Amino acid sequence: MGTLSVQNLIGIKYLQKNDLDLIFDMATHFKEVINRPIKKVPSLRDYTIANLFFEDSTRTKLSFEIAEKRLSADVINFSSSNSSIKKGESLLDTVKNILAMKVDLIVVRHPNPGAALFLSQKINATIINAGDGTHEHPTQGLLDCYSLLEKFGSLDGKKIAIVGDIAHSRVALSNIYALKKLGAEVCLCSPKSLIPQNVEKLGVHQSTNLLETLQWSDAVNMLRVQKERIQKASYPSLRDYALQFGLTKPLMEKLDKFLVILHPGPINRGIEITSEVADSDQAIILDQVENGVAIRMAVIYLLVSKLKMSTDESPIT
Ligand code: CP
Repeated sequence: MGTLSVQNLIGIKYLQKNDLDLIFDMATHFKEVINRPIKKVPSLRDYTIANLFFEDSTRTKLSFEIAEKRLSADVINFSSSNSSIKKGESLLDTVKNILAMKVDLIVVRHPNPGAALFLSQKINATIINAGDGTHEHPTQGLLDCYSLLEKFGSLDGKKIAIVGDIAHSRVALSNIYALKKLGAEVCLCSPKSLIPQNVEKLGVHQSTNLLETLQWSDAVNMLRVQKERIQKASYPSLRDYALQFGLTKPLMEKLDKFLVILHPGPINRGIEITSEVADSDQAIILDQVENGVAIRMAVIYLLVSKLKMSTDESPIT
């Protein structure tokens, strides 16, 4: 078995192509495990993982928890909404106190970009970024690419569009980094007001025309409008947004091909995608969710293996 080049998972930006291949190979092994009648392996017995969520989550939080339990780790869950954060305790003090309880690895979701990197520079524990504001969501980028690899075999030369609110998305950046490392071409399609500045430095195409983008694409990842992160409306109304950038059945019928459709969730049905399309055969949205557990098992397993190597302990089995 190979090893990761990193000790924490802060962003796809810091991973090598070899890291991605290693994670995907390991995820394929764990996907087979979680489809067995007995879905658990003993690999992380005696390890304790804390899931620290300073922002709401359904998929990521539960997916990490299931992944950790399938690896036989002990799991504690922290939610800022019912914690001493409300009494003024800082992020760093909170994490230091949790680590003092002999926690080995932390998974952190935070509304501020850079929160996971900040913690990795201040504390001595393995950290996985579960989404930091508008920055990165690395395990989402990994599970999206893994789901695409299941469909296409290879992403080399494949044309993948990311459509929607790029400016306020962390999924977009992690997908761009991962897709580019895997050899795909990427096009970002959104209103000009929802594209971040300097995005051309990432080596991606840009478009404001959804039909043209779909005609170019082999697969499309539909992002939701991140209403909670938008200070000032960047488009006339959600109805206008849906008319110009929403994925609908009539639009799909204009395409002479089987376009693969992804969505990281949560879906705003009727805005960025209609139910007819989200629930169609072309959508792999629930495959993404299933693959998320295997990807997170792989990332945790590989990071703990790396930790054991650095402390000269015997490898995990
Ligand atoms: N895809 C994703 O991050 O969903 P949650 O916000 O529900 O975790």
